[in-house]
Amino acid sequence: MPSKGIFTTRQMEDIARRRLPRAVFDFIQGGAGSELAIARNLSRLQGIALLPQALRDCSAASAEVTLFGRRYAAPFGVAPMGFADLVRPGTDRALARAAKQWNVPYTLSTAATTSIEAISPIAQDNLWFQLYPGSDEAMAASLMERALKAGVTTLLVTVDIPVPGKRVRDRVNGLAIPLRPSLRTVLDVARHPAWLARAALGERLGMANFTASKGGMSGLAHAEFVSRQLSCPGLDWARIAAIRAIWPHHMVIKGILNPQDAVRAAELGADGIVVSNHGGRQLDPAPSSIEVLPAIRAACGDALTLILDSGVRNGDDIARALASGADFVLLGRAFLYAVAAMGTEDGPSAIIDILREELLNTLIHLGCATPADLNRSFLWPQPADAR
Ligand SMILES: Cc1cc2nc3c(=O)[nH]c(=O)nc-3n(C[C@H](O)[C@H](O)[C@H](O)COP(=O)(O)O)c2cc1C
Repeated sequence: MPSKGIFTTRQMEDIARRRLPRAVFDFIQGGAGSELAIARNLSRLQGIALLPQALRDCSAASAEVTLFGRRYAAPFGVAPMGFADLVRPGTDRALARAAKQWNVPYTLSTAATTSIEAISPIAQDNLWFQLYPGSDEAMAASLMERALKAGVTTLLVTVDIPVPGKRVRDRVNGLAIPLRPSLRTVLDVARHPAWLARAALGERLGMANFTASKGGMSGLAHAEFVSRQLSCPGLDWARIAAIRAIWPHHMVIKGILNPQDAVRAAELGADGIVVSNHGGRQLDPAPSSIEVLPAIRAACGDALTLILDSGVRNGDDIARALASGADFVLLGRAFLYAVAAMGTEDGPSAIIDILREELLNTLIHLGCATPADLNRSFLWPQPADAR
């Protein structure tokens, strides 16, 4: 694995900042409002200390886990990300390829610039699909049908975008719908000729999962249609129940923070939830997902598989999340930083390798032979119920 002197996602983020036009980097790194949720995600995770248990045999330690009846090489996967190919053409495909190769899940976003049909032969049985139920029920049903045909078995239904988050950086840069890039953004893009050349040679970016069904629509009309489709203030539990009724495989509700909502998700027949504040990109005063995770686990016991995202940057963070009650973890931005820093060829494999190695190293230090061994007894200070 070529390291190119890069050993952490932190380094990748620093390189991404230099390599990408500012508007693109801001789109990835930025969040809603004052970006307090982003800071909170990082600080609350990093504030968790893990207490090692000495002299436990870890000679056969492995990062493998079972999730939804299937073995994965490690307890983490790629979170759904719309417009990932802004980083480089082919980003979705490259992440899907590496996920298949390393046997971790890859989640294709409804808002991806690559279609379900194009990605499914690459990710194969490692493909998850993320659905924005949106306002158009027929459109959601058709996306599910296509996902089913493509062999997807795990559907993530995102529920934390009732309206688009107020992303100040995107507004300042003019990276919003309709697209009106500021002069500063245009000049800055011109200062990144390598990115510009790749973008010019790559496929025209559009929401591929909608282009297929709205073929006649293009430009602004298309962007506006998609934007209306994605955010939906009218979304309610009845829509989720209707999705549950037609989706025959694992269904995971993404964007739950409230323990009562987690209980409701379990009652409705969800197999899991993603405890997430959307990486701080939606509701800025939201708690971090790691803060609410223990209360969610306490409220729903083992009735739900708990997947955590928002702020996870390295193997230690993955261990922190698992010790706090998560079964699995997703990462978003870190994967895009990897592609920006190391390219589509090396970046995706490098980051999976780094995260897996970091996690294994931490597990062994803690005295855990497998991720499933991590529990609240490894938290410090030790919670009263874990002593
Ligand atoms: C550029 C970008 C695009 C995203 N697009 C989507 C999306 O289309 N659907 C979705 O459910 N979440 C989306 N998310 C949120 C991620 O799935 C995930 O919840 C979040 O990135 C986790 O936080 P992290 O980036 O700190 O790891 C996006 C995140 C980023 C950074």
